[in-house]
Amino acid sequence: MKIGILTSGGDAPGINATIRGVGKTGINHYGMEMIGILNGFSGLLYKDIIQLNDASLSGILNLGGTILGTAREKVFRKMITSPDEKDRQQIKNAYHELELDCLVCIGGNGTQRTAWMLSELGLNVVGIPKTIDNDIYGTDITFGFDTAVNIATEAIDRLHSTASSHKRIMVIELMGHHAGWITLYAGMAGGADIILLPELGYNMKVIIDKIKQRTEAGKPYSIIAVAEGVEIQNSKERPATYFAREIQEQTGLETRETVLGYIQRGGSPSPYDRNLGTLLGGHAAKLIHEGKFGRMASKIGKEITDVPLSEVAGKLRLVTPEDQLVQQGKRMGISFGVW
Ligand code: F6P
Repeated sequence: MKIGILTSGGDAPGINATIRGVGKTGINHYGMEMIGILNGFSGLLYKDIIQLNDASLSGILNLGGTILGTAREKVFRKMITSPDEKDRQQIKNAYHELELDCLVCIGGNGTQRTAWMLSELGLNVVGIPKTIDNDIYGTDITFGFDTAVNIATEAIDRLHSTASSHKRIMVIELMGHHAGWITLYAGMAGGADIILLPELGYNMKVIIDKIKQRTEAGKPYSIIAVAEGVEIQNSKERPATYFAREIQEQTGLETRETVLGYIQRGGSPSPYDRNLGTLLGGHAAKLIHEGKFGRMASKIGKEITDVPLSEVAGKLRLVTPEDQLVQQGKRMGISFGVW
């Protein structure tokens, strides 16, 4: 069988481990031929490819980014979300001209949706979930998340010492798109005093009261972890800027902001993410060997398994107020901005 692998959407630590997982399992265990499709779905249309073999898949396990390149392609997305007959034919022709037996799509929500649409066109497709945001429906965890949480936690740890020395309020904004997973996990692991998540929203009075209570209790500094996706009421400022300004104005306490940004996405994957990518990649190769297409490899509980792409497409996995980490934080007096 000839298999094409592509990576699409924002990068995440662990992609190369995953490419290696699919590629080496396919080549060494199932005797497949593997090609890498460059720069996301556009590489499929332009037949921009590289041959992958055991040697070229070596030495990439610990590398950040993606050896295949990635893109957020609006043109392809439009072709696939509202295709006319010409678009459909162009996509099918590209797949058939490359003589592919299956296309492996490593990516986030948008990519899995596109993967599902391609499988609806009759192409053999297998998806592998990838994002630091951890918001893909149908899997309990995505690779990239653990690394991002480690980096964000270290950043919060480092803010503690400078915050306490200067007796300042520190607001740190973390990635996650519409989901609060990175902020919840890093906020809890880093001992943040206030954790603000898009799923819960916020009440400024609750935040200000919490900071004042801490000051009165002899704790002159506070750490606030805020997710980039928190919707700000009546302001166009980014969350870190908005909360830092409001808090300083309303409490009179010196407040500073930090936006951690792309640091969370770059660099070497954690051991957990390397192994998760390796396992999901291996499972994708097995699905292809067994002819189980139109599915996404996933991890549910302790099991590496798979789910239909049709169930994943168009849905998000978000934090709920019932999450055990939210509930435990609440019991310990950590504020989530609404209580
Ligand atoms: O999806 C991963 C992510 O890093 C989000 O956390 C963030 O909102 C977004 O990508 C940034 O995207 P871009 O790379 O297009 O700036």
